[in-house]
Amino acid sequence: MRFNFDKVIERQGTYSIKHEPAARGLPDAILPMWVADMDFQSAPCITEALEARVKHGIYGYSMPDTEYFDTVQGWFEQRFGWKTKREWLAQTPGVVNTIYIAIRALTEPGDGVVIQQPVYHPFMYAIRDTGRRLLNNELVYDEGRYTVDYADLEEKIKDAALFILCSPHNPVGRVWTREELQKMGEICLRHGVIVISDEIHQDFVYPGSRHYMLADLDESFADITVTCTSPSKTFNLAGLQLSNTFIPNGELRGRFLKMYKSCGLNEPGVMGLVACKAAYDGGAEWLGELISYLGGNFGLIREFLHTRLPMVRLVEPEGTYLAWLDFSELGHSAQELDRLIRDKAGLWLVGGTTFGDCGAGFQRMNIACPRSVLSEGLARLEAAFGS
Ligand SMILES: Cc1ncc(COP(=O)(O)O)c(C=O)c1O
Repeated sequence: MRFNFDKVIERQGTYSIKHEPAARGLPDAILPMWVADMDFQSAPCITEALEARVKHGIYGYSMPDTEYFDTVQGWFEQRFGWKTKREWLAQTPGVVNTIYIAIRALTEPGDGVVIQQPVYHPFMYAIRDTGRRLLNNELVYDEGRYTVDYADLEEKIKDAALFILCSPHNPVGRVWTREELQKMGEICLRHGVIVISDEIHQDFVYPGSRHYMLADLDESFADITVTCTSPSKTFNLAGLQLSNTFIPNGELRGRFLKMYKSCGLNEPGVMGLVACKAAYDGGAEWLGELISYLGGNFGLIREFLHTRLPMVRLVEPEGTYLAWLDFSELGHSAQELDRLIRDKAGLWLVGGTTFGDCGAGFQRMNIACPRSVLSEGLARLEAAFGS
């Protein structure tokens, strides 16, 4: 390997949300494996580009240029075969705020918005905070795998103005197949429902699966879809606050941009632009090695649970760097499980009910960390639940 993902780097004192337990009333010794950023340094080509920009020393108002657009569009064309147009693209500070803005721009208060729990919790907060109605098309968990209940999705969509798709899915780790996406898209089309397709985890896909951009499957899907992307998950750039949103339909895009402006937001920050361009220009090799390292981490968990803690089950991940762990065989209530994980195991994970009530009995563990840290986390699990 050219890049060293084994290196443990101190993150306390670096304004990291993930590594300041005291700020949340947690003990210093707790092991942070919760929020979805990585404990790895970003690709060297990104740091070099940022250093060069810092040397320039002027940080005035910024805007993307032609090369920036070419690079971003090139990434999606090369990796996913998705041909896009420059005018579809808007830069925002993040996917979560894009979702809030899109909900406000494309629906009315009281409108129904469908999500598929257990799912990334800010979807739920965005629906609640904007006074829309949450409609849950709960995923079906059977034999350790999650699938979509299409009949229920169609019922919920009939009462909805918007569907927020998580693709690949956080926290259950599914990478939706072409057929699954096709079916979901067709249901939305049949009922004139707009889709926010949050594809931020698009680059984390393991052998055997393939990510399809929803908007690329069919021109009619492109017409109803707001595609949220960002280099932030892939290259560990969340603190630089830049996401790229694709909205092919000019009318929807106009409404989105008007709402964006009315929130007082304007041009993106310069460091986010520099990092994104450097990442998509030169980060592919680093990303390839990262994916194999993460695959190794999942291998370690799989083997560890199988041999040492067989009552805890890893929901087989197809994508993302988030392990969705099924503790239901232990029979604890969600609250009791959260307490044991925190106080007995000394682990800072995300309790399953954060993603909806149907997450009871599960915990989400972020495995984007050096293998030694992951091993420590697993040892703590064994010490707490092994007997
Ligand atoms: C599905 C999903 N969407 C969005 C985000 C956050 O995106 P941003 O930091 O750009 O708001 C995350 C972060 O974990 C995520 O998992």
